[in-house]
Amino acid sequence: MFFEVPDKTIDAVGQYVIPGGIDAHTHLDMPFGGTSSVDVFESGTLAAAHGGTTCIVDFAIQAKGDPLRKGLDTWHAKAEGKGAVDYAFHMIMTDVNDSTIEEMGQLVSEGITSFKMFMAYPGVLFVDDGQIFRGMQRAADIGALICMHAENGIPIDILVQQALAKGHTAPIYHALTRPQIAEAEGTHRAICLAEMAGAPVYIVHLSAERALKQVTEARDRGLPAYAETCPQYLFLSEDDLARPGFEGAKFVCTPPLRPKSMQEDLWRGLRTHDLQVVSTDHCPFCMKGQKDLGTGSFAKIPNGMPGVETRMYMLWDGGVRAGRISMNRFVEITSTAPAKIFGLYPKKGTVAVGADADLLVWDPEKKHVLSDKTLHMRVDYTPYEGREVVGYPTHVLSHGKVVVENGKYTGKTGDGRFVKRSTFSL
Ligand code: URP
Ligand code: ZN
Ligand code: ZN
Repeated sequence: MFFEVPDKTIDAVGQYVIPGGIDAHTHLDMPFGGTSSVDVFESGTLAAAHGGTTCIVDFAIQAKGDPLRKGLDTWHAKAEGKGAVDYAFHMIMTDVNDSTIEEMGQLVSEGITSFKMFMAYPGVLFVDDGQIFRGMQRAADIGALICMHAENGIPIDILVQQALAKGHTAPIYHALTRPQIAEAEGTHRAICLAEMAGAPVYIVHLSAERALKQVTEARDRGLPAYAETCPQYLFLSEDDLARPGFEGAKFVCTPPLRPKSMQEDLWRGLRTHDLQVVSTDHCPFCMKGQKDLGTGSFAKIPNGMPGVETRMYMLWDGGVRAGRISMNRFVEITSTAPAKIFGLYPKKGTVAVGADADLLVWDPEKKHVLSDKTLHMRVDYTPYEGREVVGYPTHVLSHGKVVVENGKYTGKTGDGRFVKRSTFSL
């Protein structure tokens, strides 16, 4: 097949033309854990483009005591003119009060139609159940979606202090102090609060079998409960956190990596549609100068892993080629479902007349090896170093323009536009 874009005919013989990837969960230039995630908008969206992702939804953060507007303006300033591909924002609410509840309506009118709240990280990002419930009630009124970090941070912090008091400082204790029941309880509670508020809820970065059961049970009852997982939970495990020395720090993210046996539960959830999306939670910190803040204490290792560039590769190779998901399901979980859930459809997430023409020409057979040396993320490692994968976007198009061709960037910084998203309508 050949197809034409302005001034160009692309030879797509033997390849697939599919919608560009949408990564609905990134943290670019995010202050966290005493440092900042190392990809800024320029490098993060460039890496996304190389890996076949043509739109990201990043998280703007409200600092405690500030209005939402201030946090949102800060994120607009970070991103303005820097995007290699399109970007949108969710808003993280750390302070839910009369004034910020009111502000949510204004943000929705500006295309910020989802809000994240945290049950984890007490004293930092945590909000209590009353705040969550109020946020959900307001979201239901204005057509917004609440994204929930569903992990009970209060007992977790006690377990962390107890582990440190016993001299348990190694990275593996990050997993041992954040048991899956803390996530299952948070997920159950988030769904109950949303049901009471009459609101839809989206569980972010779901990692574990018991949390998945909560989502499955809610969906079986017909509730508008949605959930994403991330490649790290599908391909890595707590064995990686237990690697010798300090290497496990590369794999510290929250919720933590789980026992390997849980990977198949998550794949099953993707096949049965109990999980609808795979996004990355891309939150990269270098080993040198950032992760090493935690050499003496796992609790000081900045939480987060890189992944915006490798998501499509891993899911094609380890998902489609491995026979775990169909090709159609690959397109759904990487693009169509996040577009529909987050108000980007039908401009994005589909190949159709009138859509944005964010497209990939995907070579299903091209082999390449993942390495920090050749990937474009600014971080100093990839969790998948040396892994050979098959599947590659020979052409990446944003708004009908080729921005990456056979691994060469042909776009220009600032091509990526801010996208106003529609209200929740599923
Ligand atoms: O480890 C993670 N996930 N870091 C980013 C913050 C979050 O909770 O999403
Ligand atoms: Zn989170
Ligand atoms: Zn996150």
